[in-house]
Amino acid sequence: MEIGNIVEFLRDKTIFVTGSTGFLGKIFVEKVLRVQPNVKKLFLLVRADDAEVAKRRVLTDVIAKELFDALREKHGIGFDAFVSEKVNPVAGDIVCENLGIEDYDLMKELYKEIDIVVNVAATTNFYERYDVALNINVLGAKHVMEFAKNCTEIKMLLHVSTAYVVGEREGIISEKPFQFGETLVEGEYLDIEEELKLIVHRKEELKMKKSTKDAEKSSMKELGIKRARMFGWPNTYVFTKAMGEMLLGHLRGELPLVIMRPTIITSIYKDLLPGWMEGIRTIDNLILGYAKGKISCFLGDPDVNLDLIPGDIVVNAMIVAIAVNSNKKAQIIYHVTSSFTNMVNCSKLAQCTYDYMLKNPRMTNEGKAIKMSKFRIMKSMSSFHILMILRYRLPLLGLFFINFAMCGLCSNLLKKMWKEYNLVMQFSEIYRPYTFFKGIFEDVNLEGLRMTMVKCDDTTLLDFDPKNIDWDDYLISIHIPSILTKYLCK
Ligand SMILES: NC(=O)c1ccc[n+]([C@@H]2O[C@H](COP(=O)([O-])OP(=O)(O)OC[C@H]3O[C@@H](n4cnc5c(N)ncnc54)[C@H](OP(=O)(O)O)[C@@H]3O)[C@@H](O)[C@H]2O)c1
Repeated sequence: MEIGNIVEFLRDKTIFVTGSTGFLGKIFVEKVLRVQPNVKKLFLLVRADDAEVAKRRVLTDVIAKELFDALREKHGIGFDAFVSEKVNPVAGDIVCENLGIEDYDLMKELYKEIDIVVNVAATTNFYERYDVALNINVLGAKHVMEFAKNCTEIKMLLHVSTAYVVGEREGIISEKPFQFGETLVEGEYLDIEEELKLIVHRKEELKMKKSTKDAEKSSMKELGIKRARMFGWPNTYVFTKAMGEMLLGHLRGELPLVIMRPTIITSIYKDLLPGWMEGIRTIDNLILGYAKGKISCFLGDPDVNLDLIPGDIVVNAMIVAIAVNSNKKAQIIYHVTSSFTNMVNCSKLAQCTYDYMLKNPRMTNEGKAIKMSKFRIMKSMSSFHILMILRYRLPLLGLFFINFAMCGLCSNLLKKMWKEYNLVMQFSEIYRPYTFFKGIFEDVNLEGLRMTMVKCDDTTLLDFDPKNIDWDDYLISIHIPSILTKYLCK
């Protein structure tokens, strides 16, 4: 298939997208409108109480973003008309039956019009409340599938998942779908209905105990982590994403289903706005913390593969996967990752961040460059625990006795510091599976997708080959400066 044919495939197609107000969803919407202005319509489902609010959200949270500046420029005074012709906000919520769409006539129109459904919506919080994560990532996926199956012209459902649904693995990991009820612990069976009942039961218990909102929240968060670990997943996010995949595979019937599994999505690499991203995510917290002088060490194996993948590469792969897999009655998984062909490890990130800060140091108020020391990498959890005990836990114990001697004068401070200490310990445990992750994601299916694209002059338009990423250049000249310019002063 030529690039032209892929873009051409989108002509006159009607695409229903969830999660367009999020980071990846926006890149997808913009790219489709740019590469194929003759797409028939994009229906964007957004969380909103009514059509008016949905429209406002799409205009302010999606279209108004600088990501759409190139389109704005291209269409000039015709931009607003182009947007109102092509982009149709829909008020709803994937957690609800019928995706929360209350307008019956609109629903009938959608069932008749939609060619492709793209489900990007999710909660990406590792330590989300179990009820919330299950509702969005599992029931949400189910509702999207039910919706797609009701569309008479449907050609495929593309669902964005995550590569880490595989849990903590070592070695080569293939692009394999889950069996319904599969777990990562031998002998365990996962009954999603039972998980739903468990949540209802726990909530009733909490209600009977007259628990506060905060107590309910932490109980639900703990329940998520507990159930995830019981079945072999490291956190609630990947556990519920895995369940979402299982349900989709189970319910799809003959509907073509594509599941994209990206790893850690970073800012745009090559597309129109290199470095564009939204929000501070995973590794960006480290970069920012280091640049601010608040983080000096990193907990992780220096050789461990970080598996970054820029957002534009993920979106390009999504678009090609849509064109290639539409109307094929199969289910296919794509790892959209870099570990197999062009690995980037922890020490590379640490070195690039240091190099960038050397060339672009933070200044004191007097205009002097602040000297940065190299990122210290802590190679094991045990050395991290020793550091935490010596540097924080022992002084905290000292403070405990001082507080006791002073009749509780520093109680508030002590409480706050213990809370912070526990939070750091908890987060180190939650992120540990990724900073010590030993798996390599095979991308045979994705390579196959690349192979379907016949070489042509403009492969860059939809390039999704991670082999072409120059990590040093990307990190030092694009990703790190983009984060620091945007967030360092905030
Ligand atoms: N970011 C990464 O590094 C990464 C890596 C691998 C996979 N992924 C996957 O990629 C997808 C997109 O991630 P992202 O980083 O773009 O996430 P994001 O920025 O947090 O966006 C999430 C989107 O989902 C929407 N959403 C959440 N709950 C919803 C509901 N109940 N009904 C309708 N919409 C709902 C949000 O809408 P609101 O604006 O209303 O909140 C938002 O538009 C997710 O499926 C995620 O699992 C992300």
